[in-house]
Amino acid sequence: MKVMHYQGYGSPDRLVEAEAPQPSPGAAQVRIRVNASSVNPIDWKLHDGQLRWIVPRRFPAVPGLDVVGMVDKTGGAAMPFAEGDRVMSLLTPARPGAAAGYCLADVPGSLVKVPAAMSDLEAAGLPLAGLTAWQGLIRLGRLQAGQRVLIVGASGGVGHFAVQIARVTGAFCVGVCSQANLDWVKQLGADAVVDYTTGQAPGDPHSFDLIFDCVSRLGHSDIQTLLKPGGIYVDTLFKPALMLRSLIQPLYTRQRYKAFLVNGSVDDLNQLLRLYAAGTLKTHIDSVYDLADLAEAHRRSQSGRARGKIVIRVDAA
Ligand SMILES: NC(=O)c1ccc[n+]([C@@H]2O[C@H](COP(=O)([O-])OP(=O)(O)OC[C@H]3O[C@@H](n4cnc5c(N)ncnc54)[C@H](OP(=O)(O)O)[C@@H]3O)[C@@H](O)[C@H]2O)c1
Repeated sequence: MKVMHYQGYGSPDRLVEAEAPQPSPGAAQVRIRVNASSVNPIDWKLHDGQLRWIVPRRFPAVPGLDVVGMVDKTGGAAMPFAEGDRVMSLLTPARPGAAAGYCLADVPGSLVKVPAAMSDLEAAGLPLAGLTAWQGLIRLGRLQAGQRVLIVGASGGVGHFAVQIARVTGAFCVGVCSQANLDWVKQLGADAVVDYTTGQAPGDPHSFDLIFDCVSRLGHSDIQTLLKPGGIYVDTLFKPALMLRSLIQPLYTRQRYKAFLVNGSVDDLNQLLRLYAAGTLKTHIDSVYDLADLAEAHRRSQSGRARGKIVIRVDAA
């Protein structure tokens, strides 16, 4: 089968096309004939070496955590999935591999069937970024109707799902992005939008119940000023200063700081699919690349300018 693999730690220049044997599923796994995948920043962060002490990679290493395709082979007898089912999954950072003609996914893992109306490319963009948005806003942020939420990085892969989820929740949503994306983020459902390049404060002091910082940009004094007493700040990156704050903060204020790693939850993925079925959640596609052009797709992600999701079309034949 065709794969794209990193030959060692480094830039996307180290991604090369190669032939590899099809993997064999273990007893609690299925093999997926891949139709599509997507690019998330973690794909290149795992391979540029910055996460090597947390998630070491052995090379050659096939990237890709989001996968959509057909179940091609099941490992065990009693499986809730059969050959020919169209499924999507979030693979784990320790065992990615969606940038290939075939890959393995754990059962149950985060494997779900793809609704017939959803295209492969739409589905490919959903698992990692959609789950991060859902878990950041709903599970950690406990967002409720009538609350005010600030979403920083509202036009990115995670942020564009977060804006749509905030809208469905019935919260008042302020989205932060650059000028070029202001109208688009409003169309997604933000009640107000702020261009971060102007330096303008995104809201009045102590006006937000929740800040979801998808791009980990806000400084401590801005967070303290913008959050209500008892408000929650959720960050998508673990930074030592943030971890320290999450411990110290409860000693002198009711504001809470949280960071998290996305969890491949089937329940949460099904929640996202319910929103899709209701017409209230959509994957917006920034760009589509063929598997052979994966290095270009990783560079697009590294630019930090993606509007929605970068998706990868895979022809396993
Ligand atoms: N903890 C976890 O489990 C987890 C899960 C998913 C993602 N993440 C992390 O979360 C981050 C975002 O992921 P993503 O997939 O959303 O990335 P992404 O799609 O690459 O984000 C691109 C977006 O970031 C926006 N942006 C760049 N600089 C900004 C700034 N200063 N203020 C506001 N927006 C800014 C850009 O908007 P403009 O073009 O308008 O500037 C662009 O739309 C990454 O660092 C990723 O590693 C963590």
